[in-house]
Amino acid sequence: MIEASAPSNIALIKYMGKVDSQSNIPSNASLSFTLEKLRTTVTLEKIKNVADQWSPLTGNDFYNLQLSEKGVQKFLNHFARLKKEFAIDGYYQVKSANNFPSDAGLASSASSFAALTEATYLLKKSTHADFTKSKTELAALSRMGSGSSCRSFFSPWSTWDDRGAREAHIPIKNLIHRAFIYETSAKKVSSSEAHQRVVMSPLFKEDENGISRIDRAEIRLKNLLLAFSENNWRLAFEICWQEFWDMHELFHTCDPSFTYLTDEVCHVLKQMKEKWDREGRGPLITLDAGPNVHCLFREEDADLVGAWEKEFAPGSKKS
Ligand code: PMV
Repeated sequence: MIEASAPSNIALIKYMGKVDSQSNIPSNASLSFTLEKLRTTVTLEKIKNVADQWSPLTGNDFYNLQLSEKGVQKFLNHFARLKKEFAIDGYYQVKSANNFPSDAGLASSASSFAALTEATYLLKKSTHADFTKSKTELAALSRMGSGSSCRSFFSPWSTWDDRGAREAHIPIKNLIHRAFIYETSAKKVSSSEAHQRVVMSPLFKEDENGISRIDRAEIRLKNLLLAFSENNWRLAFEICWQEFWDMHELFHTCDPSFTYLTDEVCHVLKQMKEKWDREGRGPLITLDAGPNVHCLFREEDADLVGAWEKEFAPGSKKS
C-alpha cells in the first residue's frame, strides 16, 4: 500500500479567474503560505475491479471525510489522468482523509489533490525506482486537478504564475496560523463557479483608477514581496487586507453576484481592523472564498495569539 500526505495553503495574493478552465491556468500570479499542520493523507491499494474506487481513510489521526458524488468523481478523474501520465495499469482503492474537520470551512482541495498527485508518483516509483519527476513537474500535474494545489508543493511560501509554481523566498518564516471559523455549512457558490463568474465583474476589467484585476494583483504581489523584504509588517497587513476585499468585491459585482460574507464576519473584520489600528500590531488577515477569517501572526507577535483567540474565536482551529 502507498501512502502520501500534503499540506494545505492560504493565499495572500489570490488566484481568482482563469485564462483556461480546462487546465486551470490562472489569470494572475498568486502567493500563499503553506499550512504544514493542516494535511490530507491519501492511500492507494490495488484492487481486482473494473474501476477505481474512493472511500474515506479512517484512523485516530483523521476526521471523518464525506465527499459528494461530484467530489469523488473529480478526485478519481484526477487519479485517472495521473495514471495515464505515469503509465500505471490496473485499478485502485483510493482512500483519503484530513487531519482537520472538512466541515470547518478550511479549503481541503489544495491538500487533497497535492496528496493524490504525490501518492500516485510514489506508486509509480514503487515499481520503477528510476522514474523521476521534479516538484515543479508534480505541481504542474496537480494543478490540472485543483489550481491552488500546485502551491502546496513548496514551503513555507509559494508563488504561482504563468511560469508555474515555485518556492517564494521571503525572509519572514514560521508564521502562526489561526483560522476563525464562523460558518461550517457547504458553500453555495463553489470556487470553480466563482472563478468563472468574477471575469464578468466590471472591476475585473478595470477599477475606478482604470487598473485591471490582473494588474492590481501583480502590483500587490510586487509590493507585498517588497514589504516582507523590508520587514514592513504593517504595510504587508494593509496589502493583504486590500487584496481579500478586492476578491470579495469581484464576487459582489459580477453577474449574477453572490457573497460569502455574513453579518458576523463583517462585524468581526471591523473589530479586528480596529484592534490592529488601536494596538499598532496584529496578524496578516485574509479571507478565502468563504466566510472564515485566516490570521497569520509573526513569531515575535506570539503573545497576541491568545488575546485574538479569546476575542474572535467561536471554535477556532489551532494549526
Ligand atoms: O484551487 P481552487 O479552484 O479551489 O481555487 C482557490 C481559490 C482561492 O482559494 C479563493 C484563492 C487561492 O488563491 O487559493
